[in-house]
Amino acid sequence: MPQFEVSTPQRTYAAVVERGAIARLPDFLPASHGKLFVVTTQDVWALHSERFAAAIGSRPFHVLFFAGGESNKRMAHVEQLAETMAEHGADRSSLVIAFGGGIVTDLGGFLAAIFMRGIPVIQIPTTLLAQVDAAVGGKTGANLVAGKNLVGSFHQPLAVLIDPAVLATLPEREYRAGLYEVIKTGIIATEPLFRILADQRDAVLAQHHHVVDHIVAESIRVKAEVVSADERESGRRKILNFGHTFGHALEAETHYTAFLHGEAVSWGMRAATYLARDLGLLQASDCQSILYVLDRYGPIPSVKGIAAEALERRLVKDKKTIQSKVHFVLPVCIGDVIVKADVPPEPVLQAIEKALADCQ
Ligand code: GLY
Repeated sequence: MPQFEVSTPQRTYAAVVERGAIARLPDFLPASHGKLFVVTTQDVWALHSERFAAAIGSRPFHVLFFAGGESNKRMAHVEQLAETMAEHGADRSSLVIAFGGGIVTDLGGFLAAIFMRGIPVIQIPTTLLAQVDAAVGGKTGANLVAGKNLVGSFHQPLAVLIDPAVLATLPEREYRAGLYEVIKTGIIATEPLFRILADQRDAVLAQHHHVVDHIVAESIRVKAEVVSADERESGRRKILNFGHTFGHALEAETHYTAFLHGEAVSWGMRAATYLARDLGLLQASDCQSILYVLDRYGPIPSVKGIAAEALERRLVKDKKTIQSKVHFVLPVCIGDVIVKADVPPEPVLQAIEKALADCQ
């Protein structure tokens, strides 16, 4: 199974995609590491602590439980975890192992980024969404009431250990939510990946090993290439936000409780796809194909009662908005996107309305 190199000015590291990858943990611990702190949730620990214990062997470690859930991804919890680390004697040689879904990898990474001005982190993502996106690339952070991930830091891990075998324990909804990030990767960068999702739905949903391992590895290949080209999102990395600007607005408008992140991104990709078509950037047939694949992995929870105008207002608060200009990532074909900042408000509102109408 493959290992991909993520090469950034901050650090070069491996993203290992392998059944049993958790067992590789000792290979990536620095020889002189101090206390080990595992940030995880009760759910993940109940399911996977044996794998972890087998990997870590006789090394002592302390488990920091986090309640999980997007609405808990807040500074107050980061502070609590940092206090607990300090109480347990953490110092600059300590190391965080973020072991869980995207919320854990974001929050655990952020904890490592700011504890004593930065200690190392190893990411072990256990949801599909975290495996194919959140845990790779060094984005860490927490939410504010004003918006998602509005506080955070780029903090590249020492390694990312991606074990597709752990996905078998995911609730079906959670797995499908992660598949939307894989669909995103296909739309922005690789048509063959998109075609697998279009043509092999049953095998993808049934988690046939060869299909799952391939789509995860392909997603990591793309992510490693994009992050290596642009760690700080000044250029190419913006393409990874396809569907996210609209999706973040939906998440914030519903207080991070109604939609899983991947579901909100699915809705956001729908809105962005309508927008691209209506601006004449995307052929109607490609628009249809994208909407068809999103539907094949749906449905997402109903958006009934959500006002298009409220979502449009939220777009301006997204952290990708610069000097009140929203930067939209828009598909121009399947496998390529552009970033466009000068989009007038009317077509944006219309695209939101169309996407809302599809998901009642
Ligand atoms: N999740 C988008 C990025 O890593 O840039």
